[in-house]
Amino acid sequence: MQVTNLTWHKQTVSKWDRHAQNGHRSCVLWFTGLSGSGKSTIANAVSHELFRQGIKEYVLDGDNIRHGLNKDLGFSNRDRTENIRRIGEVAKLFVESGTIVISAFISPIKTDREQVRALYPDGEFFEIFIDCPIEECERRDPKELYKKARRGEIKGFTGIDSPYERPEDPELTIASHEIRVEDAVATIIEFLQGKEIIP
Ligand code: PPS
Repeated sequence: MQVTNLTWHKQTVSKWDRHAQNGHRSCVLWFTGLSGSGKSTIANAVSHELFRQGIKEYVLDGDNIRHGLNKDLGFSNRDRTENIRRIGEVAKLFVESGTIVISAFISPIKTDREQVRALYPDGEFFEIFIDCPIEECERRDPKELYKKARRGEIKGFTGIDSPYERPEDPELTIASHEIRVEDAVATIIEFLQGKEIIP
């Protein structure tokens, strides 16, 4: 439903005011990758390092958002699209608030990720591909979901009987099966410094 008669209220304190006060800019680091690829682990490790440096940061994570805001959504293509759309909007509010958002969702569909990217001006949305072969994700299987999917107990599991569309041109790729978490964190921190998001 398209709602009419709405007016956008410009806030008195701007994102730029917040950047100046915080001493850093804000953006979204949009992690994408298979279940078990290491998205949440790396996201939380990056969050911890930014926090240690006194930088405003927040992790938006798949399982957590699906317990609350998106608990009405499942894993059909349509629901995944709506899941990602809502998260893109929430992340944008955090970015407006001056926070660096680290989002950790499978976000398997390329056009869904592109729709989110389109919400942001240049230099505020960075796609980070957590690249891990499915064989390794399945070997790790921390929640035993691959096992259940193989047994047919979960239908439409990403990488098994539901697609994962690899990013074609992400700003950063982290081969999580080849490097240590500390090295992934260092790479992402250097990336943020290189983009002059953080000092
Ligand atoms: S999506 O595709 O972006 O909407 O998924 P997301 O919100 O990131 O949620 C993924 C987590 O949900 C659990 N789970 C499943 N994942 C994929 N496919 C199916 N069918 C499924 N059912 C439940 C799983 O724990 C995912 O968490 P991660 O952290 O990725 O392993």
